Amino acid sequence: MSAAGRSQALIAGARSAQGSAARRRARSGSAALRTPRAARLASLALLAVGLAAAADCCALDVLAAQRLARQSGCTSCHAVYQAKDGPAWKDVAVKYHGEAGAAERLYRHLTTGRKARMADGSERDHPIVKTSDPARIGNLVDWILALPVAAPVDAAAARTLAQQNRCLKCHSVDERREAPSWKEVAARYLGSVGAEDALTRHLTTGRKARFADGHEEPHPAVKTSDPDRLANLVNWILSLR
Ligand code: HEC
Ligand code: HEC
Repeated sequence: MSAAGRSQALIAGARSAQGSAARRRARSGSAALRTPRAARLASLALLAVGLAAAADCCALDVLAAQRLARQSGCTSCHAVYQAKDGPAWKDVAVKYHGEAGAAERLYRHLTTGRKARMADGSERDHPIVKTSDPARIGNLVDWILALPVAAPVDAAAARTLAQQNRCLKCHSVDERREAPSWKEVAARYLGSVGAEDALTRHLTTGRKARFADGHEEPHPAVKTSDPDRLANLVNWILSLR
């Protein structure tokens, strides 16, 4: 992956972080900025701005983190957006948001194999990460903790935006029509780390869509100039089960 591509990925991450930091500030005054997490996210955002100019650096290597997660078999139980046997990593980031010592805790969690409670109530050793390189483990932990700490999705706002854009002419949440149901889309992206970016691209660039009858036409783009509303719609779709 090129340095430019890497900084693109970082910038996208930092943007969401910035956006959600802004939303939190709106809710709670400037208190959020005093927390260490917010400070970290802010410095991540600054870093991305720096990267756009310098185009090579390496504080958080998103692709290396995703690769290590796949190689270690983590994605059989975890996805970024949705709970599987293990919690969605986005929810882990939310849970530890603002908590001092979170990185150390997760580092221990991923290296010591302490007991984890599975969805069916049984307990077993949580798998440990398949590397002994502290820098690679630290990078994975930082990536998980830096996942966009989005506000929980606003389902009503997402539905409204979908209605305004006539998306429901071809889609439904549950049923396949001319187009796949959104639950089907969510299921397809369940284990996929770049899902939010892929769907955002799909909904902004009007690339060709293949219909059930085999014909192709440009997919409608979402009409909104508010990136938060679009991100909310994308995350709502991805959260459907
Ligand atoms: C066999 C399924 C399974 C696999 C594979 C797995 N996990 Fe987990 N993971 C879980 C479960 C279940 C929990 C919730 C544990 C609990 O709360 O007791 C969890 C919790 C976590 C947490 C949150 C810990 C916390 O303190 O809240 C993180 C982070 C995590 N896993 C990362 C990973 C990584 C990274 C890998 C790959 C090395 C991995 N998991 C592999 C099932 C799994
Ligand atoms: C004219 C019918 C039509 C309309 C209107 C439409 N879609 Fe689609 N959509 C499709 C089809 C067909 C596909 C399957 C595309 C493919 O797999 O090539 C699709 C795929 C998708 C996917 C899955 C993309 C992926 O990467 O798998 C999402 C998400 C989606 N649409 C959301 C929306 C949203 C949001 C709107 C409203 C702005 C919308 N669609 C409006 C026909 C439509």
